[in-house]
Amino acid sequence: MRLKEKTAIITGATSGIGKATALRFAEEGASLVITGRRAELGKAVEADCRQRGAHCVFVQADHTKESDCRKVVETALTEFGRVDILFNNAGIVMKGMADTTPEDVWNDTIAINITAVWRMSSLVIPQMKKQGGGVIVNNGSDWSVVAGRNAFPYVMSKGAVGMMTKAMALDYARENIRVNAICPGDTLVDRWLEKGYFEYSDPVTLGQAIQESSAYIPMGRFGKPEEIANAVLFLASDESSFVTGHLLLADGGNTAQ
Ligand SMILES: NC(=O)c1ccc[n+]([C@@H]2O[C@H](COP(=O)([O-])OP(=O)(O)OC[C@H]3O[C@@H](n4cnc5c(N)ncnc54)[C@H](OP(=O)(O)O)[C@@H]3O)[C@@H](O)[C@H]2O)c1
Repeated sequence: MRLKEKTAIITGATSGIGKATALRFAEEGASLVITGRRAELGKAVEADCRQRGAHCVFVQADHTKESDCRKVVETALTEFGRVDILFNNAGIVMKGMADTTPEDVWNDTIAINITAVWRMSSLVIPQMKKQGGGVIVNNGSDWSVVAGRNAFPYVMSKGAVGMMTKAMALDYARENIRVNAICPGDTLVDRWLEKGYFEYSDPVTLGQAIQESSAYIPMGRFGKPEEIANAVLFLASDESSFVTGHLLLADGGNTAQ
C-alpha cells in the first residue's frame, strides 16, 4: 500500500499507460481522479479501480480546454480535499516532418502534449504548496532525450516535456514538490492494434508481425503498459523521495544503443 492516504490525478486514463497506472495506483491504496474524453471507457476504468478497493472518480475532460482542467482539480479537492500526485499522461502521437506537418497538427500536438501538462501542473502546484509538498510525474518518451524520424510534432513536444520537467523541478524543489518524467520506449497499447499499426497476412500472424517490428529494441520486445505503470509508481511514491528533475527511461535499452 505504497500510496495509502494519497490522492492522485491521472490524466488520460481511459486506455493504455494511463489506465494501467490507475489500476496499479488503486492496488497501492490511492484515491483517484481519472480523466479522458471517452466516458464509457473512463467509467469502466473507474469501476475496475473501485473493485480493487480504491476511491475513484472519473471526470470526462478534454485537457486542451482550460475549464475542463479546472473541473478535474476542483473535483479532486471536493472529493478528497487534497492532491498529492499528478500524473500528466494524456497525449497524442502525430507523424510528419517539418515540411509536411500541417499547422492544425502542430497546434493540436502542442495543446495536449505541452500546454495541458503546464496547465494541469499550474493548477495543482498552489494546492501542493499549501499541503507542504507533492509529486508531479510527466509522461515524456524516449524521444524526450533522442529524436526519431517522421514524428516531428511528437518529438518536438516530448522534448519540451523533458525540459519542462527539469525547469519545474528546480523551481519547486524547496517547496517539497518533486517533478520527474517517465520516458517510455515503444509500449504496446490497444490503440496500436485498433489503428492497425501492424501489417500482416497469412502466413504471418499478428504475433509474428509484432515480434518482427520490435526487433530493433535491445530487449527484443515492446514494453507493456503495466511495466511503465510500475516505473510511474516508483516516481510517485515516497520510495523516490530524493529524486527530482529526472527523466526515467523505461525503453528496453533502446536509447543505450
Ligand atoms: N505507447 C507508447 O509507445 C508510448 C511511448 C512513449 C510515450 N507514450 C506516452 O504515453 C501517454 C499515453 O499514451 P498511450 O500510449 O497509453 O496511448 P493511449 O492508449 O492512446 O492513451 C492516451 C490517453 O490520453 C488521453 N487523451 C488524449 N488526448 C486527450 C485530451 N485532449 N484530453 C484528455 N485526454 C486525452 C486518451 O483519452 P481519450 O481518448 O479518452 O481522451 C487516452 O486515455 C502519451 O502521453 C504518450 O505520448 C506512449
